[in-house]
Amino acid sequence: MHKIVGKPRLVGMAGSLRRSSYSSAVLSGLRENLLPAAQIETCDLRLPLYNEDEDGPAAPEEVRTFREAIWASDGVVIVTPEYNHGIPGVLKNALDWASRPFGESALIDKPVLVISVSPAFTGGVRAQAQVNETLLAIGAGIVTGPQVVIGSITGKIQDGLLVDGESLRFALGALDRLIAMSRNDRTSQRLLA
Ligand SMILES: Cc1cc2nc3c(=O)[nH]c(=O)nc-3n(C[C@H](O)[C@H](O)[C@H](O)COP(=O)(O)O)c2cc1C
Repeated sequence: MHKIVGKPRLVGMAGSLRRSSYSSAVLSGLRENLLPAAQIETCDLRLPLYNEDEDGPAAPEEVRTFREAIWASDGVVIVTPEYNHGIPGVLKNALDWASRPFGESALIDKPVLVISVSPAFTGGVRAQAQVNETLLAIGAGIVTGPQVVIGSITGKIQDGLLVDGESLRFALGALDRLIAMSRNDRTSQRLLA
């Protein structure tokens, strides 16, 4: 099981490749507010489309880098928009790569927090439910508790950062739960050692 060394190192995934993405801005806002207690390193989700023929020890280099980043992290923060009431393809594709090898995925038991955002008041809640379902299939350590669903996101971002105080407080509370889950991993390590 993964063991925290020093301050928690989290991996961030934004479910959008858009340059001025609100999802990326939420990740950036959280990163700013977490420092120096923890760090979030954003993963590049520009991965090839999943192809089982190309998977295995010789999987594409960017996929191996992506998997390594998850292995090395204490937890994962996913911030996603909703596309057509579902998971954006880019995020689903990344999670499919991360889910393999079957039974040995870097995401198994890894604490994962899901945050959804939307310009609509619904906050991408349907995408959030689908991401959680996918994480359930993978066996990830889904962070439970109040769901972080940020609606009307347009007015909550300034200069590429989430600045809305209430949303930040709520999301940082969920990040606390994620970090607490990672610390429990460390405790389990001690108990098992
Ligand atoms: C293909 C597509 C489908 C979308 N479908 C939804 C949707 O079902 N629900 C929703 O709330 N917003 C939907 N939107 C609007 C996105 O929430 C909005 O574009 C958002 O800003 C995208 O996230 P980003 O800022 O991180 O790129 C859709 C946008 C696109 C491009």
